[in-house]
Amino acid sequence: TGPILKLNNGVSMPALGFGTFANEGSKGETHEAVVSALSAGYRHLDCAWFYQNEDEVGSGIREFLSNNPNVKRSEIFITTKVWNHLHEPEDVEWSLKDSLKKLQTPYVDQFLVHWPIAAEKNADQTVKIGSDGKYIINKNLTESPEPTWRAMESLYNQGLAKSIGVSNWTEKGLDALLKFAKVKPVVNQIEIHPFLPQNRLIQYCFDHSIIPVAYSPLGSQDQVPGTGEKVSTNKDLIAIAENNDASLAQVLIAWGLQRGYAVLPKSSNPSRIQSNAKLITLSEEDFAAVNKVAEGRWTRFVNMKDTFGYNVWPEESA
Ligand code: A2P
Repeated sequence: TGPILKLNNGVSMPALGFGTFANEGSKGETHEAVVSALSAGYRHLDCAWFYQNEDEVGSGIREFLSNNPNVKRSEIFITTKVWNHLHEPEDVEWSLKDSLKKLQTPYVDQFLVHWPIAAEKNADQTVKIGSDGKYIINKNLTESPEPTWRAMESLYNQGLAKSIGVSNWTEKGLDALLKFAKVKPVVNQIEIHPFLPQNRLIQYCFDHSIIPVAYSPLGSQDQVPGTGEKVSTNKDLIAIAENNDASLAQVLIAWGLQRGYAVLPKSSNPSRIQSNAKLITLSEEDFAAVNKVAEGRWTRFVNMKDTFGYNVWPEESA
């Protein structure tokens, strides 16, 4: 369902993807959500090693495929990501192979570096936490991620990942990566919604044949600090939704798709999973009205600065 985007290596990616991050999700929730999503027509699943639920994504896919023999694994686009403490080349490979086992698939369609931060690990492949409760940053590998990217390229060349890319990367980080990359990143997955429109980074990506992929396209449920304002209660966005006989989520998904990138709405509720996949098209006027809401805004709802003890976006705190 929805448009298909062509990546810079020729691989096709459905622009509508389903986010599988389940915050404190109960056991089985992701499995059910994945079955619902595939049944509703989503053909792109966004996963990550860090989400700790790839086994449920894998069992959900398997259940769906066995109940729908007309659909093949190759028709489902599966993305996963390597977490910060697994950036050493041998760990990048270990991470993907661990994900493949849990997802019950011989390859993923896309493998991403989850954050532009390398952190230390424990011997049992868990994240090492410092005495201050934060990650211990591997400065060398954070500042010079070439070895990590070489490992990504090797997995790509082995066919274990049909495309490789990054997530949460900045313009500066992409500039550096593009200088040494033999295989270019196909996407940059970043937070995008009307309170964080990211016009500049989106343009940079398009200028470099990198497709932006929007996480938290619904603006999550978080509030703008200090004001209590939410994307989901914005009066102008609600008016646009009413004008289209649509939900606010449908308006936000349409806005992203019409801006030309991929969007990854997530939900654990079957009826919202379904309605989010019923795509609408915004008129020029309504599209412009969402842009107007977005104008001049810059609120991040997803920021791991306190967890990592490292600011990925230093220019924003200046
Ligand atoms: P739920 O799982 O109860 O549906 P984002 O993708 O921006 O992070 O947003 C995800 C959040 O948005 C989830 O908490 C999800 O809650 C909620 N959500 C997803 N679809 C809808 C919808 N159609 N209407 C309202 N809330 C939604």
